[in-house]
Amino acid sequence: MSDYKGKIVVITGAANGIGKELASRFAAQGAKLSLADIDSENLGKLEKELKGKGAEVMSVVLDVSDFNAMENFAKKTFEKFGSVDYLFNNAGVIAAGTIWELPLSDWEWVFGVNVMGVVHGIKTFVPQMLKQDKESCVINTASLAGMVVGENLPVYVSSKFAALSLTEVFDLQLQDSGSKVRAFAICPGIVQTDLKNCKRHRPAGLTNDNDAYYKTADYKAKETTLQESFNSGITVEKAVDTILEGIEKGTFYIMTHPEYNPLISLRVMGILKGTRPVKFQK
Ligand SMILES: NC(=O)c1ccc[n+]([C@@H]2O[C@H](COP(=O)([O-])OP(=O)(O)OC[C@H]3O[C@@H](n4cnc5c(N)ncnc54)[C@H](O)[C@@H]3O)[C@@H](O)[C@H]2O)c1
Repeated sequence: MSDYKGKIVVITGAANGIGKELASRFAAQGAKLSLADIDSENLGKLEKELKGKGAEVMSVVLDVSDFNAMENFAKKTFEKFGSVDYLFNNAGVIAAGTIWELPLSDWEWVFGVNVMGVVHGIKTFVPQMLKQDKESCVINTASLAGMVVGENLPVYVSSKFAALSLTEVFDLQLQDSGSKVRAFAICPGIVQTDLKNCKRHRPAGLTNDNDAYYKTADYKAKETTLQESFNSGITVEKAVDTILEGIEKGTFYIMTHPEYNPLISLRVMGILKGTRPVKFQK
């Protein structure tokens, strides 16, 4: 791992999974951390644990889909630390189902976090990062599901295509501006994290448990497939090893599962040939 001593690292979705592992690695290297998550309990536990090990940490409980909350998070971060070296727009949620049956609240929830959460991170932190005039990084978490399509996850897949493409355009604009900020897109395959339990923090206003579709065999089968898919995931430690190595090497598309690269080629070939989409299969 590079020397992160004294670097200021911001992570959304820091209380569990990939974000938590990133926070622990950076803290162990002497970085200063500004952490945010909707999961107040686990965020509080992490802050306590890292402070107990001597790290300088601040944390804010928020919903990344709330622009004002993100603006306040950015303000507090710059007030405390003065600048930002690494911004991880990492918070994410997932939902399975059939596109013409799912309640619209699934779209609002997942896009609010996976797309607008990233947009809010960029809009609230990047203007000041540009003014810092020092090398710094914005690392957005997309997914392998932002590169190849799976028939089980219409909302998630389309949110991750949006997160990836917005990160690509973002990097082009950073290049054009000649700034010292650069962007990265993390594109993990399946990782064993808490993502399978993400509904537990779904905002009440966007929860629709009584929707008739959730009671159907189709929904239950798709949800079971989603839950079971996590069993085949790599460990969070391995994923974070690859993520940190990718950032250190300056790799824009950080892929944790290169064995799926042929599927990406298949998708591109299909686009060029004009064939119908092919199923995501191992
Ligand atoms: N686990 C995988 O297989 C996998 C694969 C590809 C991409 N990803 C992406 O990696 C990122 C991290 O996910 P993870 O796998 O570590 O899952 P995770 O559930 O363990 O961690 C995600 C964190 O985001 C937080 N979060 C959820 N909604 C939020 C909101 N509205 N505001 C603030 N925080 C919120 C959760 O509380 C949680 O702490 C996500 O963007 C996810 O889509 C995960």
